[in-house]
Amino acid sequence: MSQTSHDRLLIIDFGSQVTQLIARRLRELNVYCEIHPYQNVTDAFLDSFAPKAIIFSGGPDSVMREGSPRPPRRAYELGVPILGICYGQQVMMHDLGGKVEAGEHATAEFGRAYVSPTDGPRPDFLNGWFMDGSGREQVWMSHGDHVSEIAPGFEVLGTSPGAPFAITADLDRRFYAVQFHPEVHHTPNGKTLYENFIRDAGFTGDWTMGAYREEAIRKIREQVGDKQVICGLSGGVDSSVAAVLIHEAIGDQLTCVFVDHGLLRLNEAQEVVTMFRDHYNIPLIHADESELFLGELEGISDPETKRKTIGRLFIDVFQKYASEIEGAEFLAQGTLYPDVIESVSFSGGPSVTIKSHHNVGGLPEKMGLKLVEPLRELFKDEVRALGHELGLPASFIGRHPFPGPGLAIRCPGEITREKLEILRKADAVYIDQIRKHGLYDEIWQAFVAILPVRTVGVMGDGRTYDYACALRAVTSVDGMTADYYPFSHDFLGETATRIINEVKGINRVTYDVTSKPPGTIEWE
Ligand code: XMP
Repeated sequence: MSQTSHDRLLIIDFGSQVTQLIARRLRELNVYCEIHPYQNVTDAFLDSFAPKAIIFSGGPDSVMREGSPRPPRRAYELGVPILGICYGQQVMMHDLGGKVEAGEHATAEFGRAYVSPTDGPRPDFLNGWFMDGSGREQVWMSHGDHVSEIAPGFEVLGTSPGAPFAITADLDRRFYAVQFHPEVHHTPNGKTLYENFIRDAGFTGDWTMGAYREEAIRKIREQVGDKQVICGLSGGVDSSVAAVLIHEAIGDQLTCVFVDHGLLRLNEAQEVVTMFRDHYNIPLIHADESELFLGELEGISDPETKRKTIGRLFIDVFQKYASEIEGAEFLAQGTLYPDVIESVSFSGGPSVTIKSHHNVGGLPEKMGLKLVEPLRELFKDEVRALGHELGLPASFIGRHPFPGPGLAIRCPGEITREKLEILRKADAVYIDQIRKHGLYDEIWQAFVAILPVRTVGVMGDGRTYDYACALRAVTSVDGMTADYYPFSHDFLGETATRIINEVKGINRVTYDVTSKPPGTIEWE
């Protein structure tokens, strides 16, 4: 649990797929909240967390089932407002004396529905709802069971054809419960309900990046004292923001290690070094180990072997440089909140490994280092806002994600220096095109992959026999799912011409129109 001094809201997670979205909506309203799985929320936990309000998430279980998830009774006794969503509504009704029925009687509802208000005075919880001419609101339902009798003290504020108790409230106790999901995109006015809920609970919206920065700096100083910290800098947004923040807190007690594996984009290493060393004056070791990495990768074409080789070397190299920094006791990492949330999983066994992600996991234990993770409470867009607050250039903060194994996974088949050179140049032309056409910020990630195939072409009067490449551009929210970006044919044609004219070694350009799933974003 964090030690923040802000007003705190507790989200008790019952395993919904969209619990994180509740946290997102609240953070957008400048409310500090944390998600905790229901199993961890004991009476003692509630007392020490001291929430100003509580939200019960949705979840896949049925309250009718013996042993299904429950909040502790104490949650109802704290005297703070509670909002129950979907399964959270059913739990609340069930716990407080209402009735829930299984969804066998064709009352299960999935997808879009419309809620209408009941007659009678509208409490503040409905401020901003039912205002347009239609008098109803679109919501997103996803429930099997449904409430069949509300608990004593509750009243019905809104109904839908499949959910007669779509919005319910006990106004005296400030308990609210809805059958639909206000946090999802398909409940367009859902954020207003959260806003009404938190206003009722007395939140002042004190969660701002300026406040966060001050607090984070104080906490880093407290944690680190006069000891040395090392930070693995990748040039990505997360580690960069972490480094600048820590540097602001402890100055030269921070040393950054930038491992250059020779698989970076055109001029990337130089840009990172210049920015951090010259602009921010952060002590930085530029570990140019490209010979080592490219040497060890020679002859390897299996994607997993490539990833594992890079991961292993990265740890070795980082460890070598870090151990030269005298008195280092802490390792800084740009861990984000989505990596920290211990969500409830009902799926049982471990999920299948699609790709071994490259990270420095295990390093702190191996080196006896303690962790400094100043971004642990933030979502990605909050990290960007913090970067902005710290004065990092907008062009840097808005950069597309770049994977740890770098160009290695954009070079299917064997990696050679020649192919990497060609790939770097093609990628630079492609990104330049995207920027020139004003599309960079609309796209989540864009890059070129060089294919392990040569094709025949004709340029001038001569025959060419060069590499083919694939352009990739996707839209996404979190990289978990993605759609290909619908470039115009004019854009694609112009880009293909530029790449073939400007990059020696490529004579054919293709566009990858695979979504994820079934594809992945990277080619390996
Ligand atoms: P995939 O290819 O799995 O990628 O659809 C999803 C997102 O993750 C990035 N990615 C990585 N990032 N280390 C990283 O730091 C990795 O090993 C790695 N593999 C993929 C990828 O660029 C995309 O943004």
